[in-house]
Amino acid sequence: MTFPNKFALSETNLFLVFVLVTANCGCFFGVFGRHVRNIESNGISVLNGADFNQDALPRFTEPIPNVTVTVGRDALLACVVDNLRGFKVAWVRVDTQTILSIHHNVITQNPRISLSYNDHRSWYLHIKNVQEVDRGWYMCQVNTDPMRSRKGYLQVVVPPSIIDRETSSDMVVLESTNVSLTCKATGYPEPYVMWRREDGEDIRYNGENVNVVDGEILFIMKVSRLHMGVYLCIASNGVPPSISKRVQLKVQFPPMLSIPNQLEGAYVGQDVTLECRTEAFPTSINYWTTERGDMIISGSEKYEAVSTDNGYKKYMMLKIRKVNKNDFGSYKCVAKNSLGETDGVIKLEEIPAPTTVKIVTHQATSSQIKKSTSTRREDSNSENKFDESRIAEYDYDGEYTLPSNGPPPIEKPPVKGSAASTHNTPRLFLYVNSFLCICSYIFKLIVR
Ligand SMILES: *[C@@H]1O[C@H](CO)[C@@H](O)[C@H](O)[C@H]1NC(C)=O
Ligand SMILES: *[C@@H]1O[C@H](CO)[C@@H](O)[C@H](O)[C@H]1NC(C)=O
Repeated sequence: MTFPNKFALSETNLFLVFVLVTANCGCFFGVFGRHVRNIESNGISVLNGADFNQDALPRFTEPIPNVTVTVGRDALLACVVDNLRGFKVAWVRVDTQTILSIHHNVITQNPRISLSYNDHRSWYLHIKNVQEVDRGWYMCQVNTDPMRSRKGYLQVVVPPSIIDRETSSDMVVLESTNVSLTCKATGYPEPYVMWRREDGEDIRYNGENVNVVDGEILFIMKVSRLHMGVYLCIASNGVPPSISKRVQLKVQFPPMLSIPNQLEGAYVGQDVTLECRTEAFPTSINYWTTERGDMIISGSEKYEAVSTDNGYKKYMMLKIRKVNKNDFGSYKCVAKNSLGETDGVIKLEEIPAPTTVKIVTHQATSSQIKKSTSTRREDSNSENKFDESRIAEYDYDGEYTLPSNGPPPIEKPPVKGSAASTHNTPRLFLYVNSFLCICSYIFKLIVR
């Protein structure tokens, strides 16, 4: 048997060989011509391995190392043969049965493939700009009889990429609906895909708080406003760089409102602040009205309305300066968006102006009436109480963050006086206060 028969030649390759021959490759022509002759004369060849001592036959010095290369880079496959003498080395692509090179000649027409050699011993196959089709087994053959060969695997890896048209883009959904965010990625090996929030917060998912959701699909049953945010779909497969896509999820819901104190007490001449918290998406328009429904314009001498936004939450404050008899009554805070409207009423009631004596008595029992909304303005610890009522309010959603510019410090009434004095009037005052306290507490309970 002879040289070319040893190489696994497909018809296409034979054709290629002919093309090369006719394309004036003198060296190859010689080899090829001899083969043709040998085939015709029943396989007697000058290159017959039987002509050599077995020990002197070509020998692979090492296995062909596997090569892993990222798509687009260059690959180099090495075949080192000792004792090659007059034998020739060919590179063959195993799975397609394609001859890539024989001896010093590149046979394939693939322009990305080239060959280099050293000392008639090392034979290098170069593949430029490696593509996924190049992945597979490559064989280095020597035309001994029987043929000797070694195989090496070229692994072509592809960094992950996200298939945009199969991946969710920004979404706007109604609260309580089911939402499904999908992320598709390709790459080799197949990428691992996961979802997480861009801000690093946990995701409420199937009743648990998780930081990462594995898989292509992030299915949120009965989406809530807490799910609103930017999500990242991250695909990775160990081939750098990993890739991610941002998907913004907006959750729409009609305005909701909560009022820390539905009953406020103030005495004539005092400044008082009413508060209201709302949540809405899209962002609501918020304002205050009087009992008669007149919109209150902020910035007058009388009123100052301030609203602080924190995502879909708003904190509204209405400051009424120097309360007079006409100011007692009801106030409404209103929030409106495209999905609905809501309002809440705060009642401002007159309380007796403190005298120095009253205040002292009141202070002595302040711990008993901490929850009182009608007395908190005249207490010297009113700031602490304000915080308490706020903390109590956290419970309703468990995650409220304080607005950066909270309510202005509440003016404190004068608190000087003699602790020894006790009168009937303050006692009565206390009873009234306690009564109001209980009323407002029950009222709050009912409203919640
Ligand atoms: C090359 O990779 C193949 C599988 O892909 C494995 O069977 C073989 O042992 C590897 N050879 C070397 C030299 O690592
Ligand atoms: C939301 O998903 C759950 C679970 O798959 C299903 O039972 C429910 O019917 C879905 N609701 C809607 C409105 O599609």
